[in-house]
Amino acid sequence: MAQPLHLTITVDVVASEADLSPAEATTWQAARAATDHAYAPYSHFHVGTALLLDDGSIFRGTNQENAAFPSGLCAERTALFGLAASQPERRIVGMAVAARPANGDFVPVTSCGACRQVMAEYEHRQKQAIPLLLQGPNGSIYRFSSLSDLLPFGFTSDDLPRVN
Ligand code: THU
Repeated sequence: MAQPLHLTITVDVVASEADLSPAEATTWQAARAATDHAYAPYSHFHVGTALLLDDGSIFRGTNQENAAFPSGLCAERTALFGLAASQPERRIVGMAVAARPANGDFVPVTSCGACRQVMAEYEHRQKQAIPLLLQGPNGSIYRFSSLSDLLPFGFTSDDLPRVN
């Protein structure tokens, strides 16, 4: 007989930026500021990501588009790949993503499937959950306690057969 499996994800709905901790507010503002450096001449959708690191510094990423459309990359992955390539010893202790039209105000955004897979990879690699801030509706901010909350049943290295 089939049994249902119920999954529960708890998301804190923070009323406004004023209710974030100082470290969260810094990360949140950095993601928003990063949207100024998006390279999005085709979609005109500016996305910024900020990673809060264990030394208190912030590492930013923005979406980078390309005339050959599939060659572009999302802000989340430019941030995570850039950090992994340049400072792999750092732990990520927080992440925020912000988005807005080129000449408009910030809008709610959620990460695409490919980014979720990459986010899960680096969280799994550092063996420490990474909280995530995303804009919600009506000025609210969604606080996820772990990046893997965005990817139930995600595939990680634990699912690969050991070869040695
Ligand atoms: N984009 C991101 O950077 N992150 C997301 O999570 C969603 C989409 C970018 C990709 C592309 O440059 C533009 O937004 C429109 O899809």
